[in-house]
Amino acid sequence: MSNGVPELLTRRRFLRFCLQGAAYASLSRLLLPELGEALRLLPGGKPPVIWIEGTSCTGNSISLDNSADPTLREVLEEIIDLRYSQLFMWPEGSRAMDVLRSTVKDNRDRFILVVEGGLPLGLPEAAVMGEEEGRIVPVAALVPELAAAARAVVAVGNCAAFGGPSGAHPNPTGTKGVWKVVTGRPVINVPGCPAHPDWTVGTLVHIILYGLPRVDSFLRPTMFFGELVHDRCPRRFHFFNGDFAAAPGGAGCLLKVGCKGPVTHADCPTRKFNDGVNWCINANNPCIGCAAPDFPDGGTSPFFARLTDIRVPPGIETTALTVTKAVAAVTAAGIGAHFAASLATGRFGKHMPPETEEFRAAEPRPQTGKPKLSLNPLRLLRRFRRQRTR
Ligand code: SF4
Ligand code: F3S
Repeated sequence: MSNGVPELLTRRRFLRFCLQGAAYASLSRLLLPELGEALRLLPGGKPPVIWIEGTSCTGNSISLDNSADPTLREVLEEIIDLRYSQLFMWPEGSRAMDVLRSTVKDNRDRFILVVEGGLPLGLPEAAVMGEEEGRIVPVAALVPELAAAARAVVAVGNCAAFGGPSGAHPNPTGTKGVWKVVTGRPVINVPGCPAHPDWTVGTLVHIILYGLPRVDSFLRPTMFFGELVHDRCPRRFHFFNGDFAAAPGGAGCLLKVGCKGPVTHADCPTRKFNDGVNWCINANNPCIGCAAPDFPDGGTSPFFARLTDIRVPPGIETTALTVTKAVAAVTAAGIGAHFAASLATGRFGKHMPPETEEFRAAEPRPQTGKPKLSLNPLRLLRRFRRQRTR
């Protein structure tokens, strides 16, 4: 392990927990107490964390605060050494600014700067940090200054990462994400609206114990954002089966009511939110792409409109329909072969998830017009299943 820390918690083990997701317990809970012990044994102690807010709704701090197990107090005491936060610290005014300045002075190239919220470059007074020597301190100017002395900068939430809602069209404040402003220091983007507490804490722990995490072309840690929501969505069966919800809140795949899961990278299906209680699609709401770089504009807008033209990272221009057709074509070929084999062996229908019939009953789709003959394996499959359920 780097940093001379004993082999209490290897990077391989840490990454395995991150990649697996932790729907049944938070990442921090799974790794405590070995994580706490590894952090305690760090030479020189844990590096301090400074948390600055720009144009934000404070949702990412609240998301961290919602971490029930471990509690916020455990996170702050056992895992990160949070020295400055407008929301969580007691001092205010000049005393708070003194804490900020002394932390930077005593921990140059060592502290980690967390930024929540965007940087309003076109209207700096939209986010200020109070006054120093009679002058207002704009966050848009303070962040690059602090970043120049930091070991790394972590942009938490979509506003800090990519501008997000606070930089949405028409963006009167000229808000931008941190990576567009900070140069010369590593920036890690942890998007989401809000970011999952595991994404935030996991990224900080990785930097502290093992150095910078592996990131994609949008600087997002691949341990949390390496796969599409669609990849592990429990409704993929309905997607492949052509069972689409007709309205938000309906059963079936939510693609036609605007789901952005096929173009959004995040591990929500396995990690889930609120200590593994639920997540967007499980609550019958389409993924609105809150971790995507163009959220809430671009390919994620309008939220309840079916995907049209979309940019698929990294930098491939295509349409969601093309992606869907390509996936469907490959799947259809596989389904076609499986379909023929299943018909021959009489196995067909035995492997359907038990909820399928409930979904059908809950959302009957009226037949309109005369069915046409088709050799499309997906259509054949659907027709065969309809006949079986009549
Ligand atoms: Fe799940 Fe959305 Fe993909 Fe449908 S389109 S399978 S609801 S992620
Ligand atoms: Fe956001 Fe979609 Fe996950 S809306 S929280 S990326 S399911």
